[in-house]
Amino acid sequence: MGETQTAANSKNNKKGRIVTGMRPTGKLHLGHYLGVLKNMVKLQDEYECFFFVADWHALTTKFDSTEDLIENTKNIVLDWLAAGIDPDKCSIYIQSHLPQTAELHIYLSMITPQNWVERDPTLKDLVKMIKTPEGDSKPNVSYGFLGYPVLMSADILTFNVDYVPVGIDQVAHIEITRDIARRFNNIYKTDLFKESKPLLTNIPMLKGVDGQKMGKSFHNDIKISDDEETTAKTIMKSITDRSRARKDDPGHPDKCEVAFEYWKAFASEEKIKQVQEECIAGKRGCADCKRELAALINEQMRPIRERRKYYEQHPELVDEIIKKGDEKARLEAEKVLQQIRKTVGMYQG
Ligand code: TRP
Ligand code: SF4
Repeated sequence: MGETQTAANSKNNKKGRIVTGMRPTGKLHLGHYLGVLKNMVKLQDEYECFFFVADWHALTTKFDSTEDLIENTKNIVLDWLAAGIDPDKCSIYIQSHLPQTAELHIYLSMITPQNWVERDPTLKDLVKMIKTPEGDSKPNVSYGFLGYPVLMSADILTFNVDYVPVGIDQVAHIEITRDIARRFNNIYKTDLFKESKPLLTNIPMLKGVDGQKMGKSFHNDIKISDDEETTAKTIMKSITDRSRARKDDPGHPDKCEVAFEYWKAFASEEKIKQVQEECIAGKRGCADCKRELAALINEQMRPIRERRKYYEQHPELVDEIIKKGDEKARLEAEKVLQQIRKTVGMYQG
């Protein structure tokens, strides 16, 4: 989206409506912060935004282990608020607090052909997260799990949005949503549903410190909520130029697999250039370089972490924010649902 469209910043001059959700699977890391949250912070000024925690989607794979669900849900909201997502600019809500989505899921599930959900490519990866019962060869895939893309369509169509900010892995789901919306419009001879488009976040994801995909299950991530010492320790583990033996050997920033990538993600152009030049000239030892990198990341994350601490210490504020977000979301969702019930032909009373 163009930087130039600043006129859209005024409240009643937004570029359209957006919804996006995240499954509550744990605390968010710096990859999420740079790749997703910073983008959400920007979008909230330009669009009418609905941001929600997809706790029903968490149940599709974790229906039998819900002990962390409440904590994980709160942690997502804390990470969002920490990052600067502003409840005065957008609606932050919990998916399971919006009965309209559940209702729409029923209408959509009636018109979605079975083979559309069965061939959903993204579900094949998610299936791996479902426990396989002992002595069984297949995981326990439920009816609700198969409905994953239909529920996601319901999230999107509950607000009849223009755009859905997602990573590339979710694009197939937005396509199913579009097919379902089109089918609904055809069946009920209406133009009620818009064709929601994906808004791709094109910022490359940050690698884990070991060079693999960043993720909590690999113990290679830095959490938004980590303290400075933990952050520094993790950064010190990050992979550098593997061919470099001594600290005054000339280094190769382009072969510095992780540390230099982090420099590029966090530092100014000027600083990146300086690091690069000193590294190539053999004037920068990797340990010192990473210590400095850790200090920079900690400095940038400090206000974010302080904001997170503040909300952690004021849980009643977070509850209030969610309550307000739920209400705003319900109000808008109800408007759309009224049209949907009528269009489908339900008895209104
Ligand atoms: N499936 C998405 C994910 O795993 C989360 C999600 C659920 C979502 N419903 C949504 C994203 C609606 C965008 C819009 O990342
Ligand atoms: Fe990477 Fe810095 Fe070492 Fe160069 S000095 S290889 S940029 S960690």
